[in-house]
Amino acid sequence: MSLPLFSKTKHKPFYLETSYYNKMNIVKLSKELMFKQTKKNKAPSWLLTEIAIKKGKELSKKHKVDEKLVLTSLYLAHTIFSPIWKGKIQQNHPKLSSKFAKKYLNKWKVNKNDQEIILNSIEAHHNKVPTKSKTAEVVKNAECFKFVTIEGCLILLHELGLRKTPFEESIDKVKQKMEQKKSLITLTDCKKEAEKNCKEILKLS
Ligand SMILES: [Fe+2]
Repeated sequence: MSLPLFSKTKHKPFYLETSYYNKMNIVKLSKELMFKQTKKNKAPSWLLTEIAIKKGKELSKKHKVDEKLVLTSLYLAHTIFSPIWKGKIQQNHPKLSSKFAKKYLNKWKVNKNDQEIILNSIEAHHNKVPTKSKTAEVVKNAECFKFVTIEGCLILLHELGLRKTPFEESIDKVKQKMEQKKSLITLTDCKKEAEKNCKEILKLS
């Protein structure tokens, strides 16, 4: 990749600009923050986050959006979370996580434009508010995708078991989550894959 040695607006090498450094490190910083928060909140399962990240990387390339912004949003979208099923924190985690993430984005000196994209991606990942960019649309699809994979459903089933949820109730919750997330998927390629996966998952239950 060829980049200009000097920024047009500031008379110092582009690589010495704080925002450039932070943009390069923002995924790492978000991952570390989410890891810390996952331990503290005891949810969601780190394995589920990894499924969303893997899908986020794939969709970013396919739909030509900035992978760094997608991955950062995916890591930060559940920084405030709770294992309590449909509790207040679970219900409001997009807004709560966005508020929490904003403090860190400021601290990391992420520029205003990127902040707006990341914060909207976090807030819109459950479709409660509209997505304002293609990046946010990719984030929503990658995030929903974790619950429409056999692996993701098994991880959730295991999690519910660890929380002493009775087996039949856990199966119902996994199916409920799967259907809800499938309905939020908008990208054609993702939708097709989700439909196929869901048929296979329902055969297992
Ligand atoms: Fe979420």
